[in-house]
Amino acid sequence: MNLKNIPIADPIRELKKIKNFNKSFINELNKGRFVGGENVIRLEEKLKNKFSVRYVVTTNSGTDSLILSVAELNLKRGDEVLVPSFTFFATVEALLHFGLKPVFVDIDRFSFTVDEQSFYDNVNKKTKAFLPVHIFGKTSFSQSILKYCKENNIKIVEDCAQSFGSKYNNKFLGTYGDIGAFSFFPSKTFGGIGDGGCIITNNSKVYKNLTKIKNHGQKNLYDHEINGVNSRLDSLNAYVLSMKLDIFDDIASSRVNLYNYFNKNIDNPYLTKPFFKDEEVPNYYSILVKKGRNKFIEYLNSNGISTNIYYKKPIHLQSAMKKYPFAAKNMKNTNYVSRKIVSIPFFPFMENKEKQKIVETVNRFEIV
Ligand SMILES: Cc1ncc(COP(=O)(O)O)c(C=O)c1O
Repeated sequence: MNLKNIPIADPIRELKKIKNFNKSFINELNKGRFVGGENVIRLEEKLKNKFSVRYVVTTNSGTDSLILSVAELNLKRGDEVLVPSFTFFATVEALLHFGLKPVFVDIDRFSFTVDEQSFYDNVNKKTKAFLPVHIFGKTSFSQSILKYCKENNIKIVEDCAQSFGSKYNNKFLGTYGDIGAFSFFPSKTFGGIGDGGCIITNNSKVYKNLTKIKNHGQKNLYDHEINGVNSRLDSLNAYVLSMKLDIFDDIASSRVNLYNYFNKNIDNPYLTKPFFKDEEVPNYYSILVKKGRNKFIEYLNSNGISTNIYYKKPIHLQSAMKKYPFAAKNMKNTNYVSRKIVSIPFFPFMENKEKQKIVETVNRFEIV
């Protein structure tokens, strides 16, 4: 079988599933409306309906969604926030911008989500917020943690950058906390044609503040009521995202089907497969390589299969965190997973011959 290199993600395939995409896009482009306007309003309305929430504020990245969400918690410098170290740097960046103290919680070795015991080991009177990361599309809290946070007035911002469409107990992730922060980065489950994101909430104060803050604190044009930033979603990106939302059920089921195919057919004693619950939509397919990760990566790459490591260096080991040595105590599982994990190509509408090639190649891997 002679196939081109199989990429780790391939968002163009999703665009190809949208009816008359090229024609509609060029038509929209020629209207010359690039910032704000109807496209953004329409997308926010559609997302509100999808999540059954009162408010959606689009932003220009998942990073901004997190920063704006954390700003709305109104915490004091030095307040502690529980957060996993096994995530993309943006999650923690948001806390550091406000002088908050990240306190890292460890993850479970096989689900990669927040370890409940580690949550309870680290939570204390100074804990003012919890920032769970629904990594790879998986739920990163439990009923017990949610109840504890509620009873102890610990605010929750959910990092949903990788969990668009995933549910927990029949309710969308992002709707459990005070605010859900999403990314529309192109390789995400719901990705656009550039940077983008949104926050979802039922809190009218948060909504009113953020609609202003993301647009230079303006109430009306050139009427700046408060200080702000520019974190607007581009109009053309909103247009494409809106069309993508119309086919999101197909995107989600294609992801779930690919996950089921991989989990049914990948069979190799050197590897541990990921697992997702029925309600979750996988964003990435990440395998633990018990021994010889570099060999596995070289072997796949030399056979035309791309790989990526989410995440090779957990946040507590990043140079930027040297000033915060107190933030990480027992990171045993986080360290273990970071040394063993590899992601293989995973995207909707993958062709059968690509799926087969990935499975056959992965299954042939052995340490000699
Ligand atoms: C878990 C997590 N949080 C936050 C972000 C930041 O999103 P963005 O790249 O859209 O700024 C990402 C995306 O890379 C992510 O994976």
